[in-house]
This record gives sequence, C-alpha cells and structure tokens, in this order.
Amino acid sequence: MELYCHTPEGGYGITVARGAIRDAASLADLNRKVLVVTDDGIPSAYSDAVLSQCREGYRFVFPHGEKSKNLDTFAAILSEMLRLGFTRSDAVVAVGGGVTGDIAGFAAASYMRGIDFINIPTTLLSQLDSSVGGKTGIDFGGIKNSVGAFYNPVRVIIDPDTLETLDARLLHEGLAEAVKMAATSDPSLFALIAGSCDLGADIEAIIAAALRIKIDVVEHDPEEKGLRRVLNFGHTIGHAIEAAAGGKYYHGECVAMGMPCMASPEAARQIREVLEKYGLSSRSPFPYSALEPYILHDKKMASGKVTVVFVDSIGSFEFRQAGPEELKCYIENNLEK
Ligand SMILES: NC(=O)c1ccc[n+]([C@@H]2O[C@H](COP(=O)([O-])OP(=O)(O)OC[C@H]3O[C@@H](n4cnc5c(N)ncnc54)[C@H](O)[C@@H]3O)[C@@H](O)[C@H]2O)c1
Repeated sequence: MELYCHTPEGGYGITVARGAIRDAASLADLNRKVLVVTDDGIPSAYSDAVLSQCREGYRFVFPHGEKSKNLDTFAAILSEMLRLGFTRSDAVVAVGGGVTGDIAGFAAASYMRGIDFINIPTTLLSQLDSSVGGKTGIDFGGIKNSVGAFYNPVRVIIDPDTLETLDARLLHEGLAEAVKMAATSDPSLFALIAGSCDLGADIEAIIAAALRIKIDVVEHDPEEKGLRRVLNFGHTIGHAIEAAAGGKYYHGECVAMGMPCMASPEAARQIREVLEKYGLSSRSPFPYSALEPYILHDKKMASGKVTVVFVDSIGSFEFRQAGPEELKCYIENNLEK
C-alpha cells in the first residue's frame, strides 16, 4: 500500500507492505554513501537487508533504549559521517523503533544543514505513529525530546513482517496508540481493532488506517500549533502516570490508562473493552493525589489550565480546557477497582 504525506516543502511517500525492507533500493535511492543507524536490540537481519542493497553502506549501532537518545549518541553519529566523508548528497537510514528514528532523523537534519533521511521503522509505535510527522530529536537536560527539529524523511518504508520479532508487550503498547487515533478519528478502525481475531493478519490494515489519520493531522498542522494536539488524547493523565510510576510502565501503556479518563461513560466502556482485550490496563493505578505533583508541573499547564482531548462518542473529539479540579474528577471516575 502506498500513502503520501504532503508537506510545505513537497512531501514523501510511505510504503506499507510485507517484505518491503527487501525492496528498499527500489523505493529509495541507496546508490550513494548510506549510514544505516540501528540499535543493538534490533535483529541485525533488518539492517543487513538494507546494507546488502546499498552501493556503499555503513552501519552505526548504538545501545538500545531511551537512555541512548542523547547528545553523545547524536555526536557519535555525526562523527561517523564526518570520518566516512559523507557529503550533502549522501543519506541516513534509520532501521529501528522511535528512538532510532528520532535520533537518526535529527542527525540527518543537522549534518551539513540537512541530508536525506529514510526511515524504516520496526516497532508498531514507530510504524503507525512516530515515523510520520517529521519530529526528530533527543532528550537533553533531563527533559524528553527537549532538543530537536522538524525534519521530514524523503521516504518511509514500513514492513509489518519486522513486527514478528517484537516483544508482545511492545506490540500491544503500540496498539494503544492505534486505539488512541481510532477513538478520536475513525470508528471503523476502532471496530477493526476491537473485532480482530488475528492481529497478525489485520496489522497491515491497522497500520495503514492509523497512518491515514496521522497524515491527515500533520498535513493540517505540520508544526503542532493546533489540531495536532488531538494526538495527545490520553496523554495529560498518561504522562503523569508514567512519571509517578518511575519507569514501571511503557508510554503506550500509560496512554491506555489515561484515555478512558477523558471519555464519556459509554466511550470509556468501549475503549476499556478493546484495551483489555490486548492485555492493556485501562484504569489509573494511582489516585489523583499521587498524580497531582506531575500534573501541576506539566509545562502545558502554565496558565492553570491545560487543553485536553475529550471523546464523547467513538470517532469524534473535542478540545476542552481543564484545571486541576477537572482533572481530579476525570481521574477519580476511572480509578483501578
Ligand atoms: N517522532 C515522533 O513523532 C514520536 C512519536 C512518538 C514517540 N516518539 C519517540 O519514540 C520513542 C519510543 O519508540 P519505541 O517505542 O519504538 O521504542 P524503541 O525505539 O526504544 O524500541 C523499543 C525496543 O524494541 C527493540 N526493537 C525495535 N524493533 C524491533 C523488532 N522489530 N524486533 C525486536 N526488537 C525490536 C529495540 O531494540 C528497543 O529495545 C521515544 O523516544 C519517543 O519519544 C517519537
């Protein structure tokens, strides 16, 4: 399946197809120096598949995990390109999850003021969310994604077969992001996820439908000035749960716990049902009092209110303003029983 994301500069194609990684050279120009960036948790068969199609390919491997999304790894990628004599006409290819895509994309954005970036995402979260939209960056000064750039890839290649080696917990947290997009914007995607009897067979259609939502949102709001905030459904409370839990839960798992708080009773029931089907917890494990310090420190809460996304019925949403009192009600309506 071929999708396209229009950007102010033009746009880029997104291929979603089983086995697509083996066709990378026909989908993107690999006939130049190419630095394939990947982490040590990703099966090397995926970067091997890309390197075997490059005229002059090099691999850069960094230790897996968010802790590597930092200035040191970023600098090491740039140093490697300098050492190898990369010029403005060469390219960076990310083969990995959101961490790899964010850091490799930022290195591509910065090297010689920008060289071509090709993204081959291999986690469900990165396939249906982070690979599209142009956000790249690193964590800095103890703050996630605090340094970065909007920089679009020239091509995204999504091969759902790469998910076969992904840990089930990571697969399901990625699915939470698809539920998030479906709940606000696409009742038929919601029904597909809720009714699926074979996730492996349906995953390609789920990725494509979620990407269509993401593309539509980022085309209307490339730099997150308005509509793009719809992608934050479940995030205000999800982020507070993530911080309070101190790393116990993955990001998507926290979004799952945050979403039903921000929905009408009937929509919350439907969201909980689909999340629980995939083993995702759908209620806050913490009372408001434990989350309050993180909610009050949310940088988006500057004026005492935060814009939240509320789902009244599946497939539609509205932005609401909420202060600590309103958030307290939302959370306490959805506590772990
Ligand atoms: N740019 C954006 O718009 C955007 C959006 C959402 C999230 N993000 C960022 O994405 C990051 C999280 O991404 P993630 O959840 O993909 O995590 P990740 O990149 O850390 O990958 C998770 C783990 O899965 C392993 N892995 C990746 N692909 C695999 C495969 N096919 N088989 C087996 N193992 C595999 C990796 O080695 C890693 O240990 C965060 O840093 C977040 O800030 C960016």
